[in-house]
Amino acid sequence: MYEILKNEVLGSNIYLFEVKAARIAAKAEAGQFVIIRLHETAERIPLTIADYSREKGTITIIFQAVGASTRELAEYEAGQKILDLVGPLGVPSEIENYGTVVCIGGGVGIAPIYPIARALKEAGNRVISIIGARSRDLLFWKEKMAAVSDELLIATDDGSEGRKGFVTDVLKDLLEKEKIERVWAIGPMVMMKAVANTTRPFAVKTIVSLNPIMVDGTGMCGACRVAVGKETKFACVDGPEFDGHEVDFDLAMKRLAIFKDEEQRILAKGQC
Ligand code: FES
Repeated sequence: MYEILKNEVLGSNIYLFEVKAARIAAKAEAGQFVIIRLHETAERIPLTIADYSREKGTITIIFQAVGASTRELAEYEAGQKILDLVGPLGVPSEIENYGTVVCIGGGVGIAPIYPIARALKEAGNRVISIIGARSRDLLFWKEKMAAVSDELLIATDDGSEGRKGFVTDVLKDLLEKEKIERVWAIGPMVMMKAVANTTRPFAVKTIVSLNPIMVDGTGMCGACRVAVGKETKFACVDGPEFDGHEVDFDLAMKRLAIFKDEEQRILAKGQC
């Protein structure tokens, strides 16, 4: 059992949990994730590790309570325990000194981009971060992102903070202005697709982190399969990071939508 030490509301429906998990914290690297199962009958939820403390033996996860399972998770309070927490899973981010890199976090994707930006900064890169959301109440961790970035740029759809527009508008300006060696983007699938389309004409390698439906997280069930460069990959063991120029985003989005009706049915029945 894994004790929740902190449950903090970061924004509209966005929650931060700090969980005691010493063995996972000891091994966690930027880009990896965990799979949570709240209790015997609960669905498994894959969540990227947003931060970890090897000293305290804790990991931090951040999620948006949008589906039945994440809404149930959001109800948990400090002191309560999670039945299963498996991880760290997935291949860590490829951290090297590339030169100037851009880290993009969209919505709740700001959480998983943070440890990557921090690791890239520690490796000696010049880190330009772009964070974006629909509006300012969905933005969080501005100070943390600023602390690991040489420059922090903000975009909101409604213009309530930073530039009015999308992260891709900010990115396009940067690409036209200076030499960028590599881009990381984490956020909604549609945003990652737009980022990959923005960098493609500039031939800047772009890494995206996919978060498809997962069951076992060990490469056995095939639930998380994605098409990358005409090959089938399992996000849980081959990813979650892939070359954004190779990912078939349309197929990945179609697969994500498969369970939407079922989710709505469960929510309507109040089974969460
Ligand atoms: Fe089962 Fe990846 S979650 S193969």
